[in-house]
Amino acid sequence: MRVVIDADLCQGQGRCFSIAPDVFGFDELGNGVVLVTGELGEGELELKTPVSDFATDFDHTDPTWVADPYPIWEDLRQRCPVAHTERYGGAWFPATHAGVTQIAKDTENFTSRTVIMNDGRPDEMALPSPIGVAPPITSDPPFHQIARKLILPAFSPGAINPLEPQVRALCGTLLDRLAGRDVVEASWDYARLIPPSVIRQMLGFPEADTEVFIDIVHTVTESVDLPMDERIAAFEPIEEYFTRQIEDHQANPRDDLTTFLLNAEIDGQKLAVEHVFGTMILILVAGIDTTWSAIGSSLWHLAQNPSDLQRLVDEPDLMPVAIEEFLRFYAPVTMARLVKHDMEYLGVTMREYDWILLGFPAANRDPTAFADADRFIIDRAENRHVAFGLGIHRCAGSNLARLELRVALEEFIARYPRFSLADPDQVTWSQGQIRGPRRLPIRVG
Ligand code: HEM
Repeated sequence: MRVVIDADLCQGQGRCFSIAPDVFGFDELGNGVVLVTGELGEGELELKTPVSDFATDFDHTDPTWVADPYPIWEDLRQRCPVAHTERYGGAWFPATHAGVTQIAKDTENFTSRTVIMNDGRPDEMALPSPIGVAPPITSDPPFHQIARKLILPAFSPGAINPLEPQVRALCGTLLDRLAGRDVVEASWDYARLIPPSVIRQMLGFPEADTEVFIDIVHTVTESVDLPMDERIAAFEPIEEYFTRQIEDHQANPRDDLTTFLLNAEIDGQKLAVEHVFGTMILILVAGIDTTWSAIGSSLWHLAQNPSDLQRLVDEPDLMPVAIEEFLRFYAPVTMARLVKHDMEYLGVTMREYDWILLGFPAANRDPTAFADADRFIIDRAENRHVAFGLGIHRCAGSNLARLELRVALEEFIARYPRFSLADPDQVTWSQGQIRGPRRLPIRVG
């Protein structure tokens, strides 16, 4: 099927779904469907055929998956625990906790060299494994441990806990800006603006660049549908921006993460500039969209579940336990791996360079791993969720993520002890490997 849409209007199917409702819609069963087809003209994008069976042709950018992936994953667990697709040059999606765990812990058979699934494959120009383009997330053993150890001190509780007053003040300022409105945009005007400010300060980048950060994260994580040459072109301004920041820090060293990375040494050698650049990109990407999504999903939940909201108002000490359930139930991060060599694995035949889409959010909803997995239980006593991943790549920023999520919710609830979803039809969700609401109108008045 040929589907055309103005390239300026949107850069991916899920995005078009919300931006161009006259092109995409729902059928009577609630499935996402394409309403308009036609010939491709200049400046128009050809979009992918909608998925008909997620077991054999899955696509995480398909509008149905973007709108509500949970029934898809439950169906896959029932009939096809490792789904397959020929899209993206061949990929697998394990929908069970056991499958996700096994692959996440297996660095012999899978490489993290590229963790965002796209149409390309690492070429000869890309930094070879085990370093990868964004250490440590793209590094394999043994280099991974060295690169990870380097950044861990910056994210330890001792380094992160002192940030709490500044995060609280930031949330207060953002809420002040919304004062007087009956309906607030809780994703775009609140959740979105919290993580970049914190990361920008940690890296020592100019305050005026918050919006630049958000564009960068969007390019890296959400533009997977762009052809490879356009993807590379989209990265050029990012490279220029980071090079400017690195040069500025080389000329004017200061007490921040960028200077720390520029001064760091491995075996008496300063880090390659590609390593510094890659780690800075990683910290932006890993720290912004992810936490924005977690804050947004939690507010989306509370806006529709007044009894959970009331419990947090009445029992503020419940917040840390509730945070873990928000993270389990609405886990925002899915990562990718590449298969290292042809093999039989989890009962399927994998080929070298097939992708694995590692669904930590799907693992968190597996009923064999969690009692009442599909129920949100705000005081769930035992909660060994995998929202932060598993194995050697487990999230290095979890202390910061939990701090931001807790403070953002505490401050929102303190300001608005009662709120509800203003218009469910206006809520939109991100497309790609990070899942969270991008438009979230909440009635507070
Ligand atoms: C709710 C928010 C967050 C979630 C759910 C989350 C989730 C994850 C997951 C699932 C991984 C594992 C990736 C893999 O296995 O390939 C990961 C890795 C990582 N995350 Fe987070 N993350 C969050 C916030 C943050 C923040 C705020 C930072 C720091 C600014 C951060 C920094 C990192 C880093 C550096 C890694 C790579 C660790 C390694 O490869 O050893 N994350 N994160």
